[in-house]
Amino acid sequence: MRLNDRIYIVTGGAGGIGAGIARAILDQGGKVVLADVDLDGVAAACADLDPSGGSVHPIRCDVTSEPDAAAAVVSALDRFGRLDGLVNNAGVVTLDAAWDASPDAVNREFDINVTGTFVLSQAVGRHLREHGGGAIVNVASNCGKVGYRNMAGYNASKAAVINLSRSLALEWAEDGINVNAVCPGGVDTPMLAGVADWLSPRLGVPAAELLAGMGPAQLGRKVEPIEVGRVVAFLLSDDAIIIRGQAINVDGGDTPY
Ligand SMILES: NC(=O)c1ccc[n+]([C@@H]2O[C@H](COP(=O)([O-])OP(=O)(O)OC[C@H]3O[C@@H](n4cnc5c(N)ncnc54)[C@H](O)[C@@H]3O)[C@@H](O)[C@H]2O)c1
Repeated sequence: MRLNDRIYIVTGGAGGIGAGIARAILDQGGKVVLADVDLDGVAAACADLDPSGGSVHPIRCDVTSEPDAAAAVVSALDRFGRLDGLVNNAGVVTLDAAWDASPDAVNREFDINVTGTFVLSQAVGRHLREHGGGAIVNVASNCGKVGYRNMAGYNASKAAVINLSRSLALEWAEDGINVNAVCPGGVDTPMLAGVADWLSPRLGVPAAELLAGMGPAQLGRKVEPIEVGRVVAFLLSDDAIIIRGQAINVDGGDTPY
């Protein structure tokens, strides 16, 4: 039990990977404030994770909003009495060829994926700094290391998340705050299904067929959200104290660097 009685905020908790991360934290003895713009979705995820409600707490939180971020910290303290860290998992992608992508869509990707990560990290980091430190894990993407087609803005935003993680790890180490990133790829979630739906009419291939082939070749299947969650839970723990500012691929081998 690496995270016994520790409390974490996980953003984007109504989605696939967020719920998987929450599951892995609970499995290690921790408790989770699950935050999302979709309150119904995050309440359903909490009911599924822990029907008793004793170790989960759903809240509405837009990660781009500083008041929402501050309120998330207050919620965690009100509900569980302490806060040990944060997982910045909320994210969006808009698919389009680079020639056609709208600057508004790119701005939204940067707002949620990058600024949202920064806003929540500051709010939680201020609390951690005053209370002996903690850990933050940012969910970037292997798209932040490799430029995949039809998602130029997303690729750029995730590269920014990787370098933001390095920057915070450097500046906040002296405050006892450890910051790392994970870089998933090919994870079985609604986001990946959305990519298959977008590609399907353009390639003339059924979405289900495309989706089936979207797992890393080395793994021979898609990555499961809980598998990403287990690595995140490890990075949140004291066992990962010597790992700092890293962007660890959790994509089944798709990106071997
Ligand atoms: N699925 C994959 O293969 C994959 C690969 C690499 C990286 N990722 C990253 O993993 C993370 C989770 O992705 P997923 O696949 O579970 O996607 P998902 O779409 O299932 O979940 C994303 C969640 O983020 C929430 N969200 C969106 N905007 C928000 C905001 N402003 N404030 C709070 N919550 C917000 C959504 O409501 C949703 O519940 C994302 O950061 C994504 O970029 C996913």
